[in-house]
Amino acid sequence: MALPVAAADGHAPEHPSIARINDCWLEGDHHGDGDLLFANHIAVCAPHVPYLVREERALLARMVRYLIGHGVRQFVDLGSGVPASGHVHEIAHALAPAARVVYVDSDPGVAAEGRELLAGTENAAYLCADIREPEAVFGAAEFQQLIDLREPVAVLMIEMLINFPDSENPRGLVSSYVEPLCPKSYLGLSHFGDHEELDKGLNIFSRMFGQPPAVTLRDREQFAKFFTGLDIVEPGVVPVPLWRPLEDEVGHNPDRAHVHAGLGRKRVMRSVG
Ligand SMILES: C[S@@+](CC[C@H](N)C(=O)[O-])C[C@H]1O[C@@H](n2cnc3c(N)ncnc32)[C@H](O)[C@@H]1O
Repeated sequence: MALPVAAADGHAPEHPSIARINDCWLEGDHHGDGDLLFANHIAVCAPHVPYLVREERALLARMVRYLIGHGVRQFVDLGSGVPASGHVHEIAHALAPAARVVYVDSDPGVAAEGRELLAGTENAAYLCADIREPEAVFGAAEFQQLIDLREPVAVLMIEMLINFPDSENPRGLVSSYVEPLCPKSYLGLSHFGDHEELDKGLNIFSRMFGQPPAVTLRDREQFAKFFTGLDIVEPGVVPVPLWRPLEDEVGHNPDRAHVHAGLGRKRVMRSVG
């Protein structure tokens, strides 16, 4: 998310990063005072956003566990943020230490911190790249060392597509990551919904900071189109808390969390004749 760095009152938190702002809400320790200040500003505009971010992290854990349970041993996380607080490699390696994970983020500070956090961790790498350049991601040494496209891969984009307006062809972008994958590979997504509560938050944010955050909210139908050509894993496209929750994870009014989640699987081609 592109964040304005100067508030309307002239106060300018230093280079807040959405990845580190998320870290504040995930109760991590990889953020600075500027990030915390900004996180608090956002929480004033949209008090439910920190809750939604925590729900998305819990979703990520459930998806990774599901994928490991279905034999996937390779993960590519696009727009990763800080690889801590229950991120992909932590969940995957707890169940399958040989699972391989590539994180990708375009924020150089976050990527540098990611590399530091992963130092000494086998089977995980952090790549600093703009995901709008898939050839650069697929061609990167980190990717080539860890990911074998002849075996199933899970591509994950958790709260990532919000960064791309329709004018940037986000469906084409998703396809460019899914097409090279072999059958039985997966695409896991979550996305803030086009809902008046989130819209209200964005409006307050705009008034406070003099410009709206550069994000695109999408309704369920628009979100579901990202899975075109894939088989959707049960329970389909649902609000994040309702995607395969553990028994003790279901809170109050989960259907009112206006963030969509879904996991699609690449079909096995059947030969004719
Ligand atoms: C909302 S955060 C989501 C972080 C993470 N997926 C999670 O679940 O906590 C979005 C992340 O995407 C990164 N990002 C934004 N545009 C990007 C791009 N074009 N290429 C790669 N990363 C990008 C940002 O730096 C940020 O870390």
